[in-house]
Amino acid sequence: MLQSHSTHYFIGLMSGTSLDGVDGVLARFGAPSEPPAIQILAHASCAMPTALRAELLALNSRHGSDELHRAALAGNALSQLYAQVVEQLLTSSDMTPRQIAAIGAHGQTVRHQPGLHDGCGYTLQLLNPSLLAERAGITVVADLRSRDVAAGGQGAPLVPAFHQQVFAPPSGVGLVLNIGGIANVSVLPPPGSAEQVTGWDCGPGNALMDAWCQRHTGQPYDANGAWAASGQVLPALLAQLLREPYLRQPPPKSTGRDLFHMDWLEQQLQGFADAAPVDVQATLTAFTAQACADSMRHHISRAQELLVCGGGALNGHLMAQLQQRLPQIRVTSTDSRGLPPLQVEAAAFAWLARQCLLGQAGNLPAVTGAAGPRILGAIYPV
Ligand SMILES: Nc1ncnc2c1ncn2[C@@H]1O[C@H](COP(=O)(O)OP(=O)(O)OP(=O)(O)O)[C@@H](O)[C@H]1O
Ligand SMILES: [Mg+2]
Repeated sequence: MLQSHSTHYFIGLMSGTSLDGVDGVLARFGAPSEPPAIQILAHASCAMPTALRAELLALNSRHGSDELHRAALAGNALSQLYAQVVEQLLTSSDMTPRQIAAIGAHGQTVRHQPGLHDGCGYTLQLLNPSLLAERAGITVVADLRSRDVAAGGQGAPLVPAFHQQVFAPPSGVGLVLNIGGIANVSVLPPPGSAEQVTGWDCGPGNALMDAWCQRHTGQPYDANGAWAASGQVLPALLAQLLREPYLRQPPPKSTGRDLFHMDWLEQQLQGFADAAPVDVQATLTAFTAQACADSMRHHISRAQELLVCGGGALNGHLMAQLQQRLPQIRVTSTDSRGLPPLQVEAAAFAWLARQCLLGQAGNLPAVTGAAGPRILGAIYPV
């Protein structure tokens, strides 16, 4: 266990639903009572190798046989990629494994079914934490979502508690939108208020835009949204996409590639066979922006700004689409609060590992719907 009065260094590793790669940070945390809460000492990333990406996508979409064996091998390959990111972080910060209290490692979600069978579902992130501990020589905290699901929660989003630590609003309600493969929002109460932090998955983030872009341009994503910006939004298609029932479900709720995948998009496009690919891309970008804006509509009047993180914050066209739909508030990246958008989720997993070693809850029942606060994660000591 950690001593709660001293400074600690943690690594957070995240590979999200975009399957673009692994982002890692090495973070310094002060004693729980000390501000500032977190300082990022290094950031590193590794792109997802093409073959591993294809295999993770196949496992996610139930393609192929012998899934148990293939999942184990994919978990091993991912752990080696995680270990490479750890090595980069240690090198660039000139630190040794012994100085790091633990790694918070997310793993790769290949199934997310929290509400199956009478609320007793599961969420599955592939990883071999033992192999990562062995390669890195650092304690690993992994499987950070299952305990919340076991307590009846969604197991997601887990980041709102961390967002509250680092982005608590100076006045009014704080809104933090993470646009990864899926988009999730955190609603942070005004200072001094007795309201609880809330948050949920809004719907698709980059996942559909990426898939369409890959198919029609051969590029893994639409850099800065330039391709979408050169097309026209198709109002009938946008209206059809916005009819997806998930978008109207009340929170707590979470989603993933289990719902928003290429087959889903192809079904939606059935009546739009003549649509130009560039116009579909423009419409998918508008759809992401509209679904996110709609999801926050009850909170906009009390907020001054929307902080955006995740790779979507680097898509200038998407950011402009969001700003257009939310004229009452300023839409800006988390860079404006000192934390670059690609570091936020990884930093959250460093924080979650710390919570685990401190024996403190990582989930927020008001967000996930779990029966109560729970210490998240399984510890693989060195
Ligand atoms: N310059 C850019 N222009 C447009 N989009 C970008 C750019 N850089 C990154 N992206 C988008 O961001 C995605 C990666 O974002 P991110 O790593 O936050 O998502 P993720 O891995 O799904 O994470 P998580 O599930 O934790 O939210 C890419 O797949 C791409 O769609
Ligand atoms: Mg990513």
